[in-house]
Amino acid sequence: MVAAGALISGTGTNLCAILDGIAAGRLDCAMRVVISNRPGAAGLAHAARAGVPTRVIEHGAFPSREAFDAALVEALRAAGVELVVLAGFDRLVTSVLLRAFPLRVMNIHPALLPAFRGLHAQRQALEYGVKIAGATVHFVDEDTDHGPIIVQAAVAVHPDDDEEAIRRRILEVEHQIYPTAIQLFAEGRLTVEGRRVVVQGPRPPLPPPLVQW
Ligand code: GRF
Repeated sequence: MVAAGALISGTGTNLCAILDGIAAGRLDCAMRVVISNRPGAAGLAHAARAGVPTRVIEHGAFPSREAFDAALVEALRAAGVELVVLAGFDRLVTSVLLRAFPLRVMNIHPALLPAFRGLHAQRQALEYGVKIAGATVHFVDEDTDHGPIIVQAAVAVHPDDDEEAIRRRILEVEHQIYPTAIQLFAEGRLTVEGRRVVVQGPRPPLPPPLVQW
């Protein structure tokens, strides 16, 4: 059983997917605390409804990113957290957080990395004209949207898609792969070799390939 803590800034639909997985007994994970840097984040209410303690730590109250991260580390440690899950957290994290939780911070990004790092990944994908988009769960390192990749999922881009349609289609697979990555971590099946994350043990059969024109 892994003790997790989530950092959020907004809606928290990924957080909900994780909390649902825990409630259904699919994840060997206890969510010890949900911390938001924004007081109005809807995800806080989802967490409270699931009985998870919540904290608001506003980044604006700190003189630097490092000082903010030090406050996060203190709160996460106080809650006994082993794995930090970034779930729509809109701040860049620093080495202060990463050194406190080495290879213990995960993020989800709405693109098939290394394509379309940074903000508005879905819009970037649409404007680039890709036929297949997707989502990536990765360990966080000191470079944005860059750390070792744990799991990715692809979705088709249809000719009449707008940014919102792609966002929603990607979000659906995000809600599947984030809990999967957490469960693999909880089972101790993830080994990091440089940039490569090796998944130990049996895998489910592969789905048919996705081809899109
Ligand atoms: C998701 O698209 C995630 O990939 C990105 O931020 C969004 C968060 O959505 N990092 P939600 O708050 O989980 O609904």
